[in-house]
Amino acid sequence: MREVRLSPAGEYDNAPRPYAHITVRPLASAMGAELMGVDLANLTDAAFAEVQDALWRHKMIFARDQQLDHAAHEAFALRWGPFAPDAYTHGVPGHANVQPLIKEADHRSKGLFGSGWHTDSPFLPEPPGMTILRAVEVPPWGGDTVWANTALAYRMLSPGMQAMLRPLKVRMSARNNAFTQKQADGKELSFASEAAREAAFAGNAHPLVRSHPMTGELSLYVDEVYAVGIDGMTTAESRPLLDFLCQHITQHHFTCRLRWDVGMVAMWDNRSALHLAANDYDGFRREMYRTTMAGERPA
Ligand code: SIN
Repeated sequence: MREVRLSPAGEYDNAPRPYAHITVRPLASAMGAELMGVDLANLTDAAFAEVQDALWRHKMIFARDQQLDHAAHEAFALRWGPFAPDAYTHGVPGHANVQPLIKEADHRSKGLFGSGWHTDSPFLPEPPGMTILRAVEVPPWGGDTVWANTALAYRMLSPGMQAMLRPLKVRMSARNNAFTQKQADGKELSFASEAAREAAFAGNAHPLVRSHPMTGELSLYVDEVYAVGIDGMTTAESRPLLDFLCQHITQHHFTCRLRWDVGMVAMWDNRSALHLAANDYDGFRREMYRTTMAGERPA
């Protein structure tokens, strides 16, 4: 029973910084910001450094009316560092690191890839640090993406809970997700290779509370899709704790939501945000392209 819903009074910190080269308009109190009037394909180094700073600050940033094709998407992505490995696809022809996320109008499924709260590929030993998603075709309504700020969620826990969580390691695996996807869709979740599937199922254990390598900010690293257990605990012990943390992180107060338009590009910080792709646009086509950028072993 929840006696009172705790709001992050005094903890909201999504105000824009006074940048010299870009203008940022926050999307919600908890997180997210729009980059106004930028051309992502033609950023000076100084402007790009401010875009990076804005991402670490706001956890999700987006820009409208970008003219990126696959090559320009890759070129912009590479300014963030090398690509992360992708367990699920081989990319599009000629662009191995541009992953298609396409749902056809006649594809009706209760289980859409990405429609549970998750951080990208945390089952990898070095999960992607950030993701860039580009909209090519969007439904007239629906198909939004929603994010939750896991650093704000950590700050809103009691000191006792924070101390209990800090030494724990969470096991991340694609196993349960693949099973659920099959139940919902009737077909196997596809992986780039059998080796990628086996590695994703075996997964990795990562700190449940991680420190951001650029800012030192602490955040909860746990999600609904891939977190399957806590090292040293039985399932009966870990499951209620994981469920509590996922409910806590994804409460309305910690989120922002983006309605997509064609030409929009959004970027998010996988170290300090979860996200979810709404599966609510049956009958309409949605065509998106994603690149994931290398991260480090969480610490
Ligand atoms: C993803 O989960 O990486 C994709 C999100 C989306 O399609 O909105």
